[in-house]
Amino acid sequence: MQIEFVAAPKVEILTGAIAVVAFEDGLTAAAGALDAATQGALSRAISAGRFKGKAGQTVDVIAPPGVKAQRALIVGAGDRTAVKAMTHETAAAHVYNAVKMSGSTKLVLYPADGSAQACANAALGVALAAYRFDRYRTRLAEDKKPSVTTVKIVADDVKAAEKAWGPLKALSEGVTFTRDLVSEPANILYPEEFARRVKTLESVGLTVEILDEAAMTKLGMGSLLGVGQGSRRESQLAVIQWRGGAGKAAPVAFVGKGVCFDTGGISIKPAEGMEDMKGDMAGAAAVAGAMYVLASRKAKVNAVGILGLVENMPDGNAQRPGDIVTSMSGQTIEVLNTDAEGRLVLADALWYCQDRFKPKVMVDLATLTGAIIISLGASIAGLFSNNDDLSANLMATSEATGELLWRMPMHKGYEKQIDSPVADMKNIGGKPGSVLAALFLQKFVNDVPWAHLDIAGVAWGAAGATPVSPEQASGFGVRLLDRLVADFYEG
Ligand code: BES
Ligand code: MN
Ligand code: ZN
Repeated sequence: MQIEFVAAPKVEILTGAIAVVAFEDGLTAAAGALDAATQGALSRAISAGRFKGKAGQTVDVIAPPGVKAQRALIVGAGDRTAVKAMTHETAAAHVYNAVKMSGSTKLVLYPADGSAQACANAALGVALAAYRFDRYRTRLAEDKKPSVTTVKIVADDVKAAEKAWGPLKALSEGVTFTRDLVSEPANILYPEEFARRVKTLESVGLTVEILDEAAMTKLGMGSLLGVGQGSRRESQLAVIQWRGGAGKAAPVAFVGKGVCFDTGGISIKPAEGMEDMKGDMAGAAAVAGAMYVLASRKAKVNAVGILGLVENMPDGNAQRPGDIVTSMSGQTIEVLNTDAEGRLVLADALWYCQDRFKPKVMVDLATLTGAIIISLGASIAGLFSNNDDLSANLMATSEATGELLWRMPMHKGYEKQIDSPVADMKNIGGKPGSVLAALFLQKFVNDVPWAHLDIAGVAWGAAGATPVSPEQASGFGVRLLDRLVADFYEG
């Protein structure tokens, strides 16, 4: 799909679909002009259609009089006095979703105003909403394919809009990279293939090192390696670096859980729904996508992304319940449930990250627990942290990006539940499951300001779908990390 910025055209001669914005208290200037050009057809449709300008409401006027266009679409944007970047983005996404299958091939969109920022935000809404994963379809009926192939966004100053679009275009590409990884099935995307795809990001200026099992054995990563030992596929650790900041400045670090498939291992999961576990690498995918964005928009920051890439399988060589592994930190772990594998992967990835890079902050993303879905559902991720400033920064970023977080308690009193009678800790306790998982991770972060985002509920699925996020892979976390850097750690 092609997105372009154009100077105000003569509406009478436009073909395809034209979209304009209305607020609760009335039309925008562009909507008013289109209403006049269509001899009041828009106003009549508004009163006939119970349209109140509420955010996301749409009215589709087919074959309006006085113009050549096939349809005029009005989208609501809510309160005129509360317009934010997200207002333009969401309105544009609603427009695209409403016309994508209509039969029109061209869409001309007038954002609520023609400013460069409004146009760029609208473009982001369209780009994110238009994501599809069609790689494995060999046939698709014409009427099941989106008809819209070009979206033209009407800008006051085309050059300025293009400039504002630059970093947001990078962001949309990063989200797409992440969504593609999460969508890929596990027969295609296993740790080495994931690592290869991350290696291609060197083309935008990142450096990528891949540690194989031999290298991780040397480092003593018995916790991560134990998870992957039942798989025919080699485990990998990807180390991604972006150096856009001052030479000696400590980096911000992101760490991702990359379980390319989670069967549960010997503590095997039930068959129903197990296919969703191809997405158990969404944390690693989000970190990779965010690193891509930072490099593409040449962020003035030093950043590190560490991905723990494994496959959790039952096998003659798989780890057993009761096994005791030694992590890179030296701490030993009694593995009571092989399905609590994400924390075992992160234990070594987090320790390695802080040990080698001495980051100023460290944020991990992981589809870690089913319990977080019980707590927060499919629209909000759990935030766990040892640091109030980092938490406040993340909450502000959550608000700005619409990738929602809620801070959860890391209550010390629960910690004894993961004491082991035979090792330094065990990998499961009782309830609350998401908190115990976070308390476990905390043992591997040393004193670094750290936050853990449990994205099990938000990474995948229809339940959390939004106008800019399709029903499957959301790409959750890419926007959050990019914006966290932009607002708090750049320059
Ligand atoms: N990958 C799962 C968590 C998960 C569940 C992600 C549902 C996405 C959707 C994780 O590895 C897991 O299996 N966690 C267990 C932990 C338990 C054994 C303590 C869980 O949540 O049941
Ligand atoms: Mn598991
Ligand atoms: Zn898992």
